[in-house]
Amino acid sequence: MSMNNNHKLLLLTFVIYRLIVTVGLTLFPSELLSLGLKGKLSMEVESSSKDFGMLNQGEAVAVLHPAGSAEDVARLVRTAYESGFAVSARGHGHSINGQAMIKEKKLKGVVIEMGKGGDNNNIRVCEEEMYVDAWGGELWIEVLNATLEYGLAPMSWTDYLYLSVGGTLSNAGISGQTFNHGPQITNVHQLDVVTGKGELLRCSEEQNSELFHGVLGGLGQFGVITRVRIALEPAPHRVRWIRVLYSNFSTFTKDQEFLISLHEKPASQKFDYVEGSVIVDEGLINNWRSSFFSPSNPVKFISLNVDGGALYCLEITKNYNQENGDSIDEEIKVLLKKLDFIPTSVFTTDLPYVDFLDRVHKAELKLRSKGLWDVPHPWLNLFVPKSRIDDFDKGVFKGILGNKTSGPILIYPMNKSKWDQRSSVVTPEEEVFYLVSFLRSALDGETLEYLNNQNHQILRFCNDAKINVKQYLPHYTTQQQWMDHFGDKWTQFFHRKMQFDPHCILATGQQIFQFHPSSIATNITNYHHII
Ligand SMILES: Cc1cc2nc3c(=O)[nH]c(=O)nc-3n(C[C@H](O)[C@H](O)[C@H](O)COP(=O)(O)OP(=O)(O)OC[C@H]3O[C@@H](n4cnc5c(N)ncnc54)[C@H](O)[C@@H]3O)c2cc1C
Ligand SMILES: *[C@@H]1O[C@H](CO)[C@@H](O)[C@H](O)[C@H]1NC(C)=O
Ligand SMILES: *[C@@H]1O[C@H](CO)[C@@H](O)[C@H](O)[C@H]1NC(C)=O
Ligand SMILES: *[C@@H]1O[C@H](CO)[C@@H](O)[C@H](O)[C@H]1NC(C)=O
Ligand SMILES: *[C@@H]1O[C@H](CO)[C@@H](O)[C@H](O)[C@H]1NC(C)=O
Ligand SMILES: *[C@@H]1O[C@H](CO)[C@@H](O)[C@H](O)[C@H]1NC(C)=O
Repeated sequence: MSMNNNHKLLLLTFVIYRLIVTVGLTLFPSELLSLGLKGKLSMEVESSSKDFGMLNQGEAVAVLHPAGSAEDVARLVRTAYESGFAVSARGHGHSINGQAMIKEKKLKGVVIEMGKGGDNNNIRVCEEEMYVDAWGGELWIEVLNATLEYGLAPMSWTDYLYLSVGGTLSNAGISGQTFNHGPQITNVHQLDVVTGKGELLRCSEEQNSELFHGVLGGLGQFGVITRVRIALEPAPHRVRWIRVLYSNFSTFTKDQEFLISLHEKPASQKFDYVEGSVIVDEGLINNWRSSFFSPSNPVKFISLNVDGGALYCLEITKNYNQENGDSIDEEIKVLLKKLDFIPTSVFTTDLPYVDFLDRVHKAELKLRSKGLWDVPHPWLNLFVPKSRIDDFDKGVFKGILGNKTSGPILIYPMNKSKWDQRSSVVTPEEEVFYLVSFLRSALDGETLEYLNNQNHQILRFCNDAKINVKQYLPHYTTQQQWMDHFGDKWTQFFHRKMQFDPHCILATGQQIFQFHPSSIATNITNYHHII
C-alpha cells in the first residue's frame, strides 16, 4: 500500500470513527435506558446541579437514582468506563466548590444521586459485633437514628449530621471527638466500592486493602462507596456541654493541647469532645452557634475586659448516663481546675446526646426560616501545624480578619497518631495540627467578593510566612496545585488512580485529573456497546 492509500485509509477511519462517536454520544441517554436499572434514570438534573457553596453550577446530562442498588451503580460506571463519559457520586451536595458536580457539558456526565429513595433496609445494625452497615448515600442522622434503636451509636462525628456517609468518608469526617477516636475514616471496618472500571468490590484492611485505604479520604477518585461498615459503641444518654472563654491565645491553645493529650486516659479523666472558636466581632450574639449564650446565658463583653482583640472560646463536653451520672460533676470539676480560662466565663448546658449531636440542624432551621441558609458559602478549612499556630493567630485572627467575620470560625487541635497514614487524606507533617474553619456566609455580592479576597489573602499569608498548611475539603484547579497538596503522597495517589479509575471518569468535579475522552476513543472496541 502506498503512502497515499495509507493516508486515505486513515482519513476514512477517522471519518467513520467521528461518526461513531457523534452518533454514540447523541444516543447516549437512551443507551443508558437499556441498562436494565432497578432505580430511575432522569433528565431532571436541576437539583443535582447545585451545592451548599452556591458558587458553581453543574452541567450533568442525566441523573441516576439508584435506590440503594449497588448493581445499578456498577452498571452505570461500567458503561461510562467503556463508552467514555464522566460519573460523579453526589452525597447530599454539601460541598463548597462543586466537588460532586459534573462541571463541563463536554464530559456528557451522569450524577449518581446517592441519597433519597430506596427502602428502609439500607441500614442494618449488628448488635453482637457492634457495627452498622449503611448504604453509602445514607445521612449520618439516619444512621444514628437506626443505631439508637439498639442503644448504640458511632463514635466519631461531624458537627452536622445531614451529610452522607460516603461524602464525609471521601474526606475524613472530623469534629470534637477526633482527638479521641480519630476521624470518621479511622472508624470504618469495611466498604463496598464500585471502582472506575465498574467492578463492585468488597474491601477492608485484609481484603483489597489498597482500595480500602485509597477510598478513605480519597475525594471520590477511586470508586463509589455503596456500603459502609461502621464501628459502634453504647450510646451515652446525656451530655454536659461547656464553654469557657480566653483572651490570651497561647493560654487557650495550651489548654486545648493539654485536653487532647489526655486521649489515652480512661473516659473519666478526659472530655469526650474538644473544639473551640474565635470571636473577633459580635459573633457571639450574631452567629449561628450563638444560641448557647442566650437568653439564659448572656455574655457581657465589657465585663470580660476585651481590649479590641479577639476572644477564644473553648468548647468541651462530657457524656454520661445513669451509671456514671453521679460522678460527672466531680470529674468535670477536676478537669476544669487544670485549665486557665477567664474565671467568670463558664457557660454550661445539659441535654440529651442526640440533641447535642444534632445541634447544627437546629441552627439550620432557624437560618432557613430567615432565608439565610441558601446563600453562597465561600468556606475555607485549613489544617495548621501546631508550631505555627501563634503566627497564624497574629497574622490572621488579629490581622487579616478585621472585625467582621460573617460566620463562625472554628479552631481545635488533633493528634496525627489517630490518623491512619495509609489513607489518602493529607495532613501537615507535624504530630499535632489544628483545624481552622472559616464557615462564612455571603448575603450579597459585595460580601462574597470581600470574603473571597480575604480567603486568598489568608492563603497568601501562609505561603509567604511559610506556614505549611494543608486544606481540608481541598479545592484546587490545576494538577500542579494538587501535586503540591499531596506532596509525598502524590505518587501513591496517582498510582491508585491508574489502578482503580484509569479513564479518570469519577468525581471530575474535584479537578484533580483530566478526563480524556480522546484517549479512550482511540480504542474503537469501546464503542461497540453504543452502536
Ligand atoms: C453545615 C455543614 C457542616 C459541616 N460540618 C463538617 C464537620 O464538622 N466535619 C467535617 O469533616 N465536614 C463537615 N462538613 C463538610 C462535609 O464533610 C463535606 O461537605 C462532605 O463533602 C460531605 O458532604 P456530602 O455528603 O453532601 O458530599 P458531597 O458534597 O455530595 O460529595 C463530596 C465528594 O465526595 C464524593 N462522594 C459523595 N458520595 C460518595 C460516595 N458514596 N462514594 C464516593 N464518593 C462520594 C463526591 O463526588 C464529591 O467529590 C460540613 C458541611 C456543611 C455544609
Ligand atoms: C427516626 O426514626 C423514627 C422511627 O424509627 C422516625 O419516626 C423519625 O422520623 C426518624 N428521624 C429522622 C430524623 O430520620
Ligand atoms: C499570654 O500568656 C502568656 C503565658 O501564659 C504570657 O507570656 C503572655 O504575655 C500573655 N499574653 C498577653 C497578651 O497577655
Ligand atoms: C500524640 O499521640 C502520641 C501517641 O499517643 C503521644 O505519644 C504524643 O505525646 C501525643 N502528642 C501530644 C502533643 O499530645
Ligand atoms: C471595625 O473595623 C472598622 C475598620 O477597621 C472600624 O471603623 C470599626 O469601628 C470597627 N468596629 C468595631 C465594632 O470595632
Ligand atoms: C480496548 O478496550 C478493550 C475493552 O475495554 C480492552 O480489552 C483493550 O485492552 C483496550 N485496548 C487498548 C489498546 O487500550
